[in-house]
Amino acid sequence: MLARPPEPAIAFDAIRVDLGGKTILTDITLDVKPGEFICVMGPSGCGKTTLLRVVAGLVQASAGKLSLFGKPVQGPSRKVSVVFQDYGRALLPWRDAAGNVALALEAAGMPRAEQRPLIETLLAKVGLKDHAHKFPGQLSGGMQQRLQIARCLAQDPEILLMDEPFGALDAMTRQQLQDEVLALAAERNTTVFFVTHDLEEALYLGDRVVALLPNPGRLARIVDVPLARPRNQLATREHPDFLAMRRDLFDMMHETH
Ligand SMILES: Nc1ncnc2c1ncn2[C@@H]1O[C@H](COP(=O)(O)OP(=O)(O)OP(=O)(O)O)[C@@H](O)[C@H]1O
Ligand SMILES: [Mg+2]
Repeated sequence: MLARPPEPAIAFDAIRVDLGGKTILTDITLDVKPGEFICVMGPSGCGKTTLLRVVAGLVQASAGKLSLFGKPVQGPSRKVSVVFQDYGRALLPWRDAAGNVALALEAAGMPRAEQRPLIETLLAKVGLKDHAHKFPGQLSGGMQQRLQIARCLAQDPEILLMDEPFGALDAMTRQQLQDEVLALAAERNTTVFFVTHDLEEALYLGDRVVALLPNPGRLARIVDVPLARPRNQLATREHPDFLAMRRDLFDMMHETH
């Protein structure tokens, strides 16, 4: 007997989203495999955040079906964690770094004594071992974003949703964090749904890139990115296949726009 293929981590089945009397997204059908790193890109206003919010259970589809690991979504799930672009607002300013990570553990009802070693491990994982007692306001933008990632990891999510998480960071910090997220996702086999408007970032990170077009938001292209892993900021970005895919997607986004 043939083994059944595993359920997709995220299955979008003919999803439509209407908001304020307007169709924002239409006809989104896509299966994301467990452990896949999927990047969603497209111009501002094409519905990327809305699509991510549907997966997070924060926006309900007006038509179609969304399932996570074979189960229909009925609101936010502990299996899913979200990293927002706006780290300043995502963190609690009156709690130190350790306290912010503890939030996720408290929510899961973990006893305090068990929390401490886990918090230490998580902070070390994102390079914040020596900053456990600093408050968000005392951390750089990159460090605050690392802290938000540590807090999400504390939730031990099966699916990590990231909404332009590195958009506000300088180029070097951004590249560092890209590599850290790739390593963390690979280590845990986390499914990542990563939203960006940056085509190069999408190609650098993704196993596949999903390009959306606006008005209404719809699938324009789904591209396989068969570049070797681990990716490398120089070698990958200089690879002829990377450059060819970049040109192809760039042309497509500009022709049809
Ligand atoms: N609650 C809402 N009510 C009405 N319209 C909404 C609502 N939320 C989003 N929209 C509209 O949906 C469209 C898509 O918005 P969304 O934020 O998903 O785009 P985006 O691709 O994430 O854009 P950006 O790259 O600028 O973040 C926009 O036209 C926006 O005005
Ligand atoms: Mg957005």
